[in-house]
Amino acid sequence: MSIIRIDGGRRLYGSVTVHGAKNSVLPIMAASLLACGETVIHNCPNLSDVDAAIQILVHLGCTVNREGEKVYVDSKTLTRSDIPHELMREMRSSVIFLGAILARLGEAVLSMPGGCELGPRPIDLHLSALRAMGAEIDEEGGKIICKAKNLKGCRVNLTFPSVGATENTMLAAAKCSGTTIISNAACEPEIWDLQSYLRRLGIKAHGAGTPIITIEGCGKKGNTEHWVIPDRIVAATYLACAASTGGAVELRGICPGHILTVTETLAEMGCEIKAGIDSIFINAEKPRKAVKPIITKPYPGFPTDAQPPIMAASLTAEGTTVFVENIFENRYRHVAELLRMGADIKTEGRVAIVSGVKKLHGAPITATDLRGGASLVVAALGAESITEISGVAHIDRGYDDIVGVLETLGADILRFE
Ligand code: UD1
Repeated sequence: MSIIRIDGGRRLYGSVTVHGAKNSVLPIMAASLLACGETVIHNCPNLSDVDAAIQILVHLGCTVNREGEKVYVDSKTLTRSDIPHELMREMRSSVIFLGAILARLGEAVLSMPGGCELGPRPIDLHLSALRAMGAEIDEEGGKIICKAKNLKGCRVNLTFPSVGATENTMLAAAKCSGTTIISNAACEPEIWDLQSYLRRLGIKAHGAGTPIITIEGCGKKGNTEHWVIPDRIVAATYLACAASTGGAVELRGICPGHILTVTETLAEMGCEIKAGIDSIFINAEKPRKAVKPIITKPYPGFPTDAQPPIMAASLTAEGTTVFVENIFENRYRHVAELLRMGADIKTEGRVAIVSGVKKLHGAPITATDLRGGASLVVAALGAESITEISGVAHIDRGYDDIVGVLETLGADILRFE
């Protein structure tokens, strides 16, 4: 079991290049099944979720090689249409393979993803979109069995702009006959990145980034390369780390427009923010103050994934900050751990009220989910004395070498077994 040990209270200084987006890489790895050829994915972070996706591709019969930030996927040899429970359990977002396997082989058998640390994670929207396109779906014995001899393009209206359901629909639509129009689609930048990859495959797709996406299915095959967009949630987390320590940090290789709500919040807290074309500089030397309510919403609203790290940065801000979590039911599990560090937070359903304290102190704490785990790192960096964080496997799902990055910024941090 790994532990991250942080001796807090050191201001972070320096610059960091942000790695590729986990939430783009995973659907693009699923989409590589549609290429029927070789895809080179550039800017691919070294994450345990990416390892899990590689294992799924290999299980399905693809040849996958990894060289540093490049992952090569050859999907010509795809033979299997099932994902066993052990692999599904590794990563809940494996459900994103459903649309691609179905589109490519006409059938797919996945075990039900079930709930996760953030609460129930239904996939009803994914399934009703695939049904609308002609798939026959049975759910029995914890498995989802999908069959579709001939998927047909149609109008899919999502009752909620689910990221995963939008992606699964796009993947199925990319190979079916006719045109699919997805309305109330998710607008997240990762959807736009998936569309860019599909276009590289010769698929006609437009509208990503807006609530209406149109895709004309086609049977083109071929080799292609794709460069993954930077990870906006990792960027938000490192900005929160800088804020929590009163430091001054530059993030490079990012899209500042993807995290406007986060940088606006940090500016309101009193941090100086300077955005360039592909960089952001944050100077958090001034004392931070509470901000107006932070309400998570689908993009371009405040991202639910940035709620825990930004909450951690608000713990020592003067005044009271209210958080309203609208996307996931159970997204305050980090609160119990932050309380152990001296934070003052009260939760009631979807609302958390943070009353700023003068300082936090170190404690032994446990990460219980990915972004909640990141919030503990943010808080520990700004706390007095030593914090030991266990449950590090959760953090490894989404942050490539977080310890090394923070060390280069001057944190007193180490990881041990
Ligand atoms: C993706 C991201 C995750 C992020 C989330 C919201 C990936 C790999 N993960 O997750 O990091 O926090 O978007 O921005 O990209 N829902 C239903 N029925 C469905 C599907 C979703 O009710 O069929 C509900 C979910 O329970 C949740 C909400 O919709 O309450 C948002 O889920 P969704 O946008 O689908 O998130 P994911 O794609 O799972």
